[in-house]
Amino acid sequence: MEKILIIGAGGQIGTELVLALRKLKGNDAVIAADIKEDCSDLIKDGPYIKMDVLDREFVRNFIIENKISEVYLLAALLSATAENNPAFAWKLNMEGLFTILDLAKEKHLKKVFWPSSIAVFGPTTPADNTPQVTVMEPTTVYGISKLAGERWCEYYAKQYNVDVRSIRYPGLISYTSLPGGGTTDYAVDIFYQAKMGNEFSCFLKEDTMLPMMYMEDAIRATIELMEAEESLIKIKSSYNLSGSSFTPKELAQSIQKEIPSFKISYFPDFRQKIADSWPNSINDDSARKDWGWSEKYTTEELVKVMLKYVDVALIE
Ligand code: SER
Repeated sequence: MEKILIIGAGGQIGTELVLALRKLKGNDAVIAADIKEDCSDLIKDGPYIKMDVLDREFVRNFIIENKISEVYLLAALLSATAENNPAFAWKLNMEGLFTILDLAKEKHLKKVFWPSSIAVFGPTTPADNTPQVTVMEPTTVYGISKLAGERWCEYYAKQYNVDVRSIRYPGLISYTSLPGGGTTDYAVDIFYQAKMGNEFSCFLKEDTMLPMMYMEDAIRATIELMEAEESLIKIKSSYNLSGSSFTPKELAQSIQKEIPSFKISYFPDFRQKIADSWPNSINDDSARKDWGWSEKYTTEELVKVMLKYVDVALIE
């Protein structure tokens, strides 16, 4: 029987992945784990364990004793937070990965999912329609940790036959659970302010284009990648994935179509430099060809869904 462990289940991706996988596999087949004492009400309908991914012995024992077959390792510091604590970001983002890859190498796990990011690219990468294989010189701690992680995933896959699968997520837009510490977070915050009737103060310049994706697409991509035949997964580092790209100004204009009185102003901070080092748009031909990926949500559609479902109580 499949037994899935999602580490970092309290985060923006984790929460929705727990919900989607429980729907697919049954509540008891999906164990949520996070550093927090208790899980959110959203994922209370199935097993939860408090877990510090840096406690290697605890993680190892739990996975072996509970006969876990698949791990989704989502615990990490995102780009903006990582810049404020580089040493801890490196430790957290790398050590957990080694713990899980080693368990897979020892055949305690059948499959591993590990998220990478558009942050693996840097200022010397071609910014438009960024190819799968290209120059990668990330300038953020987060990007460096993700690029190193990708190299280790590929190494474990090729040397030890580990089945590890990965996606380079763009900025993810969702309303179920808030993002935290990312450079693309403005594109979630903006909906809360718009819905509350506030002017939105954006920490990026109006013309900063970044690759983004609606969460439903990202979760579907993750599950499709993990459910695909192993022989189809040609790329063992991480797959480029594209949804839609937009600037803060374009996003604000789409919101204004729904809420004409909405206003935005721009006060770029240290995150501008991070955003400037990342691509504008992503070429995901490999994901399309290898495992049949295609996105559903355009910017217009994600704006409509976000404005409908964002619950301002979440930030109050
Ligand atoms: N959304 C992430 C961040 O902004 C990118 O992977 O840090």
